[in-house]
Amino acid sequence: MGGTAEQILKVSAPDGILIGIDRDPQAIAHAQTRLQAYGSRIQLFCENFQRVKSVMNIVNGEHADGILFDLGVSSAQLDQPERGLSFQQDGPLDMRMNPTYGHTAEDLVNTLPETQLARIIHEFGEERYSRRIARAIVRVRRQSPLRSTLDLSRVIRESVPRSYRSGRLHPATRTFQAFRMAVNDELGSLQTGLDEAIDVLAPGGRLCVISFHSLEDRVVKQTFRRLAQTPDQWTILTKKPVSPSLQERRANPRARSAKLRVLERKPGWGDGQRGHT
Ligand SMILES: C[S@@+](CC[C@H](N)C(=O)[O-])C[C@H]1O[C@@H](n2cnc3c(N)ncnc32)[C@H](O)[C@@H]1O
Repeated sequence: MGGTAEQILKVSAPDGILIGIDRDPQAIAHAQTRLQAYGSRIQLFCENFQRVKSVMNIVNGEHADGILFDLGVSSAQLDQPERGLSFQQDGPLDMRMNPTYGHTAEDLVNTLPETQLARIIHEFGEERYSRRIARAIVRVRRQSPLRSTLDLSRVIRESVPRSYRSGRLHPATRTFQAFRMAVNDELGSLQTGLDEAIDVLAPGGRLCVISFHSLEDRVVKQTFRRLAQTPDQWTILTKKPVSPSLQERRANPRARSAKLRVLERKPGWGDGQRGHT
């Protein structure tokens, strides 16, 4: 929605150019309004960031001096029940970050075979009761399809052991995360996005990634480690990821799981060697 972008524009004044990508049309529209004072210093695209190279082609940009991925969902998306991302508010089982494109969570929940449901819940939600939950979804949908977030949340709650229902985490947390990640192909987009970003990063440029859960962080960490195997070209600037301070976590609890990792392309490397990364 342009908050981070605005800070970058301020520190890169007077002539830094910012190219913003979000797959959510609402986020782009909001940022467009918020950042209009920056005129030709900004160009915003409603795109999946896995197409970062195509976006760079459109703007005739060869290199980027810095690239920031701020992953996951926004507070605005979480707070709109009609996006279907919250298990606490009733809404359609949608979960798409771009509501004009692709399959919804309702499609997946009501059509995938039980084994595939269990695999999604297990892999993307790291949910220990994935099989029980998948079995319950299939049993319930035989009677009538699951249409709303509360339908799904209820099935999950009723399928897990009583002790799990009263735990610290709401029993639907992991399953909702899993379907959201599947609906939006979050890990696939991240891997392609990072690979494309690496190709357009200028010598001396930095690639920064803020992730919000361990599966995303693993993709980032492994990609950075792979590149750092050629230390004449790449340096990892964050041996350990940077986490928000206690003060920041208190002020903004949704930031509590954020992890920032930064990779730098060695200055001077890359001129005349494009395409060999
Ligand atoms: C944590 S929010 C970013 C907030 C933003 N930095 C700001 O200051 O408002 C994450 C955003 O990333 C977007 N997003 C997630 N995956 C994406 C992808 N593969 N391609 C493009 N945008 C994506 C979401 O739509 C969401 O708006």
